[in-house]
Amino acid sequence: MQTQTASSAEIAPLPRHVAIIMDGNGRWAKRRGLPRLAGHRAGTENIHAIVECFLDFGIEYLTIYAFSTENWLRPAEEVMGLFGILEEVIHHEAYALHRLGVQVRHVGRLEGIKPSLQETIRWATNLTKDNTRMVLSVAFNYGGRRELVDAVRRIVAAGVLPADIDENVVGSYLYTCDIPDPDLIIRTGGEMRLSNFLIWQAAYAEYYATPVFWPDFGPDEVRKALLEYSQRQRRFGAVPGE
Ligand code: IPE
Ligand code: IPE
Ligand code: MG
Repeated sequence: MQTQTASSAEIAPLPRHVAIIMDGNGRWAKRRGLPRLAGHRAGTENIHAIVECFLDFGIEYLTIYAFSTENWLRPAEEVMGLFGILEEVIHHEAYALHRLGVQVRHVGRLEGIKPSLQETIRWATNLTKDNTRMVLSVAFNYGGRRELVDAVRRIVAAGVLPADIDENVVGSYLYTCDIPDPDLIIRTGGEMRLSNFLIWQAAYAEYYATPVFWPDFGPDEVRKALLEYSQRQRRFGAVPGE
């Protein structure tokens, strides 16, 4: 993995894994008198710059929440429009991310997604699978509860004995089995909730919420979030200094 660059030298410690709830696209558009899809386009196009910024800081794992299992409750026109934008942006960005050494992964379920988008996601993940500078996981059609249900089903199907099930076993059946837990979860758009994101993995993550809408979340905002993280004291239930 990449070592830290000069731009990150004065912020320490840095998280290994940052996860982002990219929220506020709709309100960003509304504020400009634009349709919600214009917000999704601006938000999706913002991803590249933010990935580059986290790469500059030497962050090894970045996970971004792009579409939740609950987002199907939105009007079909918004859902289909968003899927179209995602497909276009993945086509456009995959080679650029590949050149940057980013390994793109998908977390969530591909079942029920239109075949062309499934194909695009498989193509991009396959193209970048050997890259090691950063693992960028895209949580798409992802739900934390759904992930746990899937894990339980697979544990039962594998015939694992109840006495053999511990936290490591559960973790090893999650979509994120070979990715460390997130250290920092950033939520843009001002809400103070997880919205079914990484509910198991986030048990000891630090939370950072900002009112800035996702399309406006730029390098200065990344720096602010990482600086705040560096000043947190993580105790994991223990007494500090013991
Ligand atoms: C986040 O932006 C993107 C997705 C959930 C797909 P929103 O679309 O939720 O934007 P707001 O919260 O309505 O502003
Ligand atoms: C969370 O945002 C999901 C994503 C960012 C993909 P939502 O806008 O769907 O969350 P709620 O509905 O405000 O909880
Ligand atoms: Mg929202």
